[in-house]
Amino acid sequence: MDFKVADLSLAAFGRREIQLAEHEMPGLMAVRKEYAQSKPLAGAKIMGSLHMTIQTAVLIETLVALGAEVRWVSCNIFSTQDHAAAAVVVGPDGTVDDPKGVPVFAWKGETLEEYWWCTEQALTWPGGDGPNMILDDGGDATLLVHKGAEYEKAGAVPSAAEDDPEEWKIILDLLRRTVSDEKKWTTIASRIKGVTEETTTGVHRLYEMYKAGTLLFPAINVNDSVTKSKFDNKYGCRHSVIDGLNRATDVLIGGKVAVVCGYGDVGKGCADALRGQGARVIVTEIDPICALQAAMDGFQVTVLEDVVETADIFVTTTGNFNIITAEHMARMKHNAIVSNIGHFDNEIDMAGLAKIPGIVKQEVKPQVHTWTFPDGHSIIVLAEGRLMNLGCATGHPSFVMSNSFTNQVIAQIELFTKTEEYPIGVYVLPKHLDEKVARLHLDALGVKLTQLTKAQADYIGVPVEGPYKPDHYRY
Ligand code: NAI
Repeated sequence: MDFKVADLSLAAFGRREIQLAEHEMPGLMAVRKEYAQSKPLAGAKIMGSLHMTIQTAVLIETLVALGAEVRWVSCNIFSTQDHAAAAVVVGPDGTVDDPKGVPVFAWKGETLEEYWWCTEQALTWPGGDGPNMILDDGGDATLLVHKGAEYEKAGAVPSAAEDDPEEWKIILDLLRRTVSDEKKWTTIASRIKGVTEETTTGVHRLYEMYKAGTLLFPAINVNDSVTKSKFDNKYGCRHSVIDGLNRATDVLIGGKVAVVCGYGDVGKGCADALRGQGARVIVTEIDPICALQAAMDGFQVTVLEDVVETADIFVTTTGNFNIITAEHMARMKHNAIVSNIGHFDNEIDMAGLAKIPGIVKQEVKPQVHTWTFPDGHSIIVLAEGRLMNLGCATGHPSFVMSNSFTNQVIAQIELFTKTEEYPIGVYVLPKHLDEKVARLHLDALGVKLTQLTKAQADYIGVPVEGPYKPDHYRY
């Protein structure tokens, strides 16, 4: 088996944590049981690009239990949990000397070159007959396949402009080496039946490609299942934003002034958590609806410029870029904590920060750095500006990820087994499946659901067994 992880000897530790996680992931375990015999993913060759954590290990082993062949990478250079990666490679029945699990190419602290090399490895199936499905988080695997196929069609890879981001130059270099007359990327693209996308940012990329007419295969937007974005993005971040801050700095949050940029699903979870710790929370927004929500939830809403010099903690949650600029950071108070929990690292202008003349970066510990300005004051930047909950802590806990990943498995089954029902486009799962995912998680929390009577169901115009809400309902 080909794979590349940090240290296979961590597999036993990883396996013990996977066993604990399985108990907290009732949705995934129920799906495993439901499809144990029928194996709807037999023949699926799934390339996954999603944070290689313990929770993801349970997802991978669920896909395998349903019959799929899988190869995996992390979708961020800092988010891999090395014991999880090792355990997945060794597998439940293998040993360190005789691994029998799934090929994983991921370790914590990859360089960007290594990151894209890993993505290429997971997309390169031995024997060349796969993958036929992608499970993506943020859209990097989908992007590589699309750009490779586009440049093969054009017959050349364009040169990078000097002011292009470093990462884009790395991608172009990789494609220059791999775009070929054998049409490696075109062949991969032609085999793929579809992609299921995990996050807001990746979904945004998919809709853009679809609108531009460049999307090469159908996609299911897993993010916008209610049981994904209204749970993982919100309650997951409500848990893991604090975990990231605590593990990175252990600063007392109570009494501090915290600024949350963006009040979407992630921002709502972060603001709630910081308030729960006793911080005085200030929100920034560009959308009047979200700004009004924040105000009516009791938060001060203002522009960053007004509070940049007085706040203690900054968290960006926008999925947008250049939210905190180098100029903002220069004005912050001594030891202000600057962090991002959105998908990509460009919410904070790290490149601009590094270019300030005389600035000195010092590592406190991995993923925690002070940046000292020429006037002697410093700021503390978490995870080099990448998502701090996965860079500095272990991301979302199992229970909430069980909701997200049950949607992922159902979406993979949909696209793989009903390919002809999904012409190229971007789809969300039907509501009855969303309700099914929620239902699978009720028992574990001791929830007793009220039964609708037939007369009540008729009165509000829904079937007794659901779905209970129209598609436009917003929760
Ligand atoms: P969303 O679209 O619900 O929320 C983003 C909010 O930011 C919107 O309300 C938007 O109006 C606001 N915004 C945009 N530009 C802004 C600006 N310049 N200043 C202030 N506010 C601005 O998106 P969601 O679901 O909250 O996701 C946000 C990001 O977090 C995405 O990149 C997503 O992929 C990522 N994500 C990260 C997770 C993690 O574990 N770290 C989990 C889930 C999502």
